[in-house]
Amino acid sequence: MTQADLSTHWAGVSLSSCIVNASGAWCSTFAELMDLTESTSGAVLTKSATLYPRKGNLEPRYFQWTYGSINSMGLPNLGIDFYLDFIRSQGAKKPIFLSLAAMNPEELSKLLQRLRKLDFPVVTELNLSCPNLIGKPQLAYDFSCVEEILKKVFDFYEFPLGVKLPPYFDTIHFEEMAELLNCFPLKFVTCINSPGNALFVDPQTESVVIKPKEGFGGIGGPCIKPIALANVNKFFKLLKSDIQLIGCGGVSSGQDIFEHILCGASLVQVGTQLMKEGPGVFERLQEELCVILDRKSYTSIEEFRGKLKSLG
Ligand SMILES: Cc1cc2nc3c(=O)[nH]c(=O)nc-3n(C[C@H](O)[C@H](O)[C@H](O)COP(=O)(O)O)c2cc1C
Repeated sequence: MTQADLSTHWAGVSLSSCIVNASGAWCSTFAELMDLTESTSGAVLTKSATLYPRKGNLEPRYFQWTYGSINSMGLPNLGIDFYLDFIRSQGAKKPIFLSLAAMNPEELSKLLQRLRKLDFPVVTELNLSCPNLIGKPQLAYDFSCVEEILKKVFDFYEFPLGVKLPPYFDTIHFEEMAELLNCFPLKFVTCINSPGNALFVDPQTESVVIKPKEGFGGIGGPCIKPIALANVNKFFKLLKSDIQLIGCGGVSSGQDIFEHILCGASLVQVGTQLMKEGPGVFERLQEELCVILDRKSYTSIEEFRGKLKSLG
């Protein structure tokens, strides 16, 4: 078997593999981040960092079953300074990307001011699935608020930045969000964050399975793949060509990665399956993807990226 080239670029940074972790999966503590650094993932993406450390919600707050996972973590993280120190100390070994989450626009402005003062550029994925004002939906579902925030951000911020979106389900929402994002110098858009407020029921115990929010939480894993692929492909078609698409959602095999790339993704993130299998998952997924590419005589991911066919 000839070894296909799985390399790619993320916001201008070269990666040896197009498969990386999703923010929040195995990337919160020093030990987890070191595991990823030593794995065969193409890069390391941190847990979404807030200005100050957060303990998150009460446990149990994560549950997994055959077809997926449900969580209501409440953004437990060690705070921006910890993640920046990690990048500073380990960044030469492998590209490390920062995920950011802000509980309000003031916090976001403080976080970005902190990044601006660094003497090295950090590529940042801004998680837009964040709480908004009381009575409003999460940030990414409040389009005027997203526009206001991005205007403020790009007024002063010049390091490479992308946004991570939750799934949309309606054509007008895809179109409006794409039109809005096309107005800004974003380097990439990541689709999708966990579809929110799902409910897993255990018929045996007749109970929910996680403690926060009466059992409601975001879902991941195989059950969300068709939603993720739809979002990747829609935004791939609607966004200007200099905004890269990053695929995330429902990846547990090399075939899932192949499908994300066919829909337009330049690289693919793995969340639930990394939680289940640990960092050895990257080697398995790379091998499975190579077998598919070899069978189809593709030598690189660019040969089929975004080339999903329609019927007639
Ligand atoms: C335990 C857990 C924690 C997560 N934390 C974050 C986070 O901090 N920031 C973020 O952008 N997404 C977070 N996510 C969402 C994942 O990055 C990903 O978008 C989602 O799980 C879908 O991918 P999957 O199907 O591979 O799990 C988290 C997911 C899980 C399961």
